[in-house]
Amino acid sequence: MNRSFETHSEKTSEIQHAAHLLRQGKLVAIPTETVYGLAADAKNPQAIAEVYDIKGRPPTNPLIIHLSDIAAIDDWAIRIPETAIQLAEHFWPGPLTLILNRHPNVPKIVTANQDTVGLRVPQHPITLALLREFGGGLAAPSANRYGCISPTSADHVKSELGEKLGYILDGGPCRIGIESTIVYCVDEEPVILRKGSIGQSEIEEVLGKKLKNVRHGQAEISVVVPGSDHKHYAPQKKLFLLEAADLFVKLQPDSSGMMTANANVMSFSEKPKSFKNGLWIQMKKDPIPYAAALYANLRALDQAPGDCILIEQPPMQVAWEAIWDRLSRAAY
Ligand code: TXA
Ligand code: MG
Repeated sequence: MNRSFETHSEKTSEIQHAAHLLRQGKLVAIPTETVYGLAADAKNPQAIAEVYDIKGRPPTNPLIIHLSDIAAIDDWAIRIPETAIQLAEHFWPGPLTLILNRHPNVPKIVTANQDTVGLRVPQHPITLALLREFGGGLAAPSANRYGCISPTSADHVKSELGEKLGYILDGGPCRIGIESTIVYCVDEEPVILRKGSIGQSEIEEVLGKKLKNVRHGQAEISVVVPGSDHKHYAPQKKLFLLEAADLFVKLQPDSSGMMTANANVMSFSEKPKSFKNGLWIQMKKDPIPYAAALYANLRALDQAPGDCILIEQPPMQVAWEAIWDRLSRAAY
């Protein structure tokens, strides 16, 4: 029997089952190209309340609504500026969330009472098929407990929220591995609220103009950015982000050169022979595979026996911006 056909039909029944549960107001974990989401029917306030509850997320922190395609945008947002349409047409399906003026039909619990709404069309074949089968919008934050590391595999979701969850759609490991770029696009002057794999220069290229540079908390627009807490994406163990030389000092080599610190390390350097305790993960200096492996590695470093986590700083380059953002929050 043709294996790909078999896999496809198995997935079809899983997708139908997931859509059925969502229509009943149940929650389903969904794969996306960025991280796994904890999805609920965006028009069902009770189901949404359960999402906040399971995540332990403050009610002031709004959820992103996932759509099957750009044509659905008018059901969820109003007074959409031309810049938003340009970005959506270029980047959707993909790792871009647009913050737009909320349509009055969007339940206020989804947007945490704000007059704006976050929308995105994810680029994952299983979740796109689910969205089409479901026929509406799915509100989905990352499927982790509030402030913890986002899941990039079905196993991560299971180990963190498994007992509380009705169903997990397994779509394999997430291709990109860090959350979508969020762009505030309520007027013609877009602002990046969360860095992601789509960088500022790509957005500027599509729009044919430079974006205003605003740092969190210094925006000239009055916008609440609840997910910009300094401490986020954090493991349980204390995490230090260090230059290579400082990292080797922190490993406390004794007079014979043996490293005595009981630490878990993620570094670009090869594991030295003198490193005996803990886990050592060696990374390539390429931001794409680095991002894809980042959260799985943070989980592994958190679970390994060492007392703390030491991470070698990535290069100070634009291509590493989103990774710097996540690492510095994990270290905070
Ligand atoms: O890649 C992603 O965006 C993943 C996948 C599952 O789509 N989702 C995700 O959701 O990262 P979450 O809830 O973990 O992060 C969404 C961020 C939060 O920081 C939230 O505050 C912000 O988006 N957000 C959502 N709606 C907003 C709004 N109307 N205004 C400002 N920020 C908003
Ligand atoms: Mg999250």
